[in-house]
Amino acid sequence: MVFNEEIPQELLSASTYLNGYSPFIPWSISIGLKPNLIRYADRGHSPLLAENYLLNSYYTRGDIESELSIEHFYEEACIVTQALNNQRDYYDFKRIALPVGISLDMSLGEAMLRRRSVNEFTGDSVNLDYLATVVRSVKGVSDTGVAKLREGKKIRLNFSTISSAGHLYPIDVYFLAFNIKNLDSGIYHYLENEDVLIKIGDEKKALHVLDTFIKSKKSINYSRSNYICLFVAHPWKSMSKYGNRGLRFILQEIGAMTQNMHLANVALGLGSMDWGGYYENEINQILGFDGINQSVLHIILAGIIN
Ligand SMILES: Cc1cc2nc3c(=O)[nH]c(=O)nc-3n(C[C@H](O)[C@H](O)[C@H](O)COP(=O)(O)O)c2cc1C
Repeated sequence: MVFNEEIPQELLSASTYLNGYSPFIPWSISIGLKPNLIRYADRGHSPLLAENYLLNSYYTRGDIESELSIEHFYEEACIVTQALNNQRDYYDFKRIALPVGISLDMSLGEAMLRRRSVNEFTGDSVNLDYLATVVRSVKGVSDTGVAKLREGKKIRLNFSTISSAGHLYPIDVYFLAFNIKNLDSGIYHYLENEDVLIKIGDEKKALHVLDTFIKSKKSINYSRSNYICLFVAHPWKSMSKYGNRGLRFILQEIGAMTQNMHLANVALGLGSMDWGGYYENEINQILGFDGINQSVLHIILAGIIN
């Protein structure tokens, strides 16, 4: 680690000068900490956006910015932030408590072998316990721990059924519910810390979301599903610590969540399928997400197999 007082003044001035001008001359070699905008600019030379992203998400030796950013997240203020993460301010909304749920007794090996994509559903209803079981498998609080702070103070940390880079949990779970007993059709947000659902949209809005799905030749009757899960990412929760690499972590975490969801569905006797075909701008607009700080990054349909 280099401290400012060890660096000759003229070098510091040069560094400041270069950093200030680097956005306009990105090929210049920066000295010291680079402004975020140009941290990655000189890494990739691929004309393809996907390849460029891949290159720009690599760790490189001597990347002081990344090291400092990650180090910073071990400080107390960040631990407190992690503990308070995902506390929601739905003050005026009714909280819908979830029932106990169903014990998933199928062996893990059998569930893995049985998993298959399913896209034809009967349209029959299931009890709310099914949904409760699935949401908890995807993003349930499975345990709590205590982090020690200064002056003997302590703070409670929740642990989850899924792992998350830096304990940041940047993905929220929303649902379109269609055929769930004792639950109105509509759009719901699962608050894992309280283990409750918040209804954020009615049936009309949920059907509107279905209009944003890209229709394939084989028509699928989406509203015959029991629920459709929307994985909603807050990229900056992870990117504020990991930079571009944070987006990679988010995609990995969605992968873990989706596999938990598929396996839970299999164990419950339901079928499910990933759904990658939808228009992001339209779905984000309906849900009130800006598409950068909050965006739908994946979808899963699930229901009783026809
Ligand atoms: C990220 C992802 C997105 C997918 N998107 C779609 C989709 O939009 N439409 C579709 O019919 N299947 C979709 N699938 C399902 C795959 O077609 C399916 O998993 C694959 O054919 C293998 O079949 P299996 O899941 O039954 O083993 C998607 C799968 C994944 C992992």
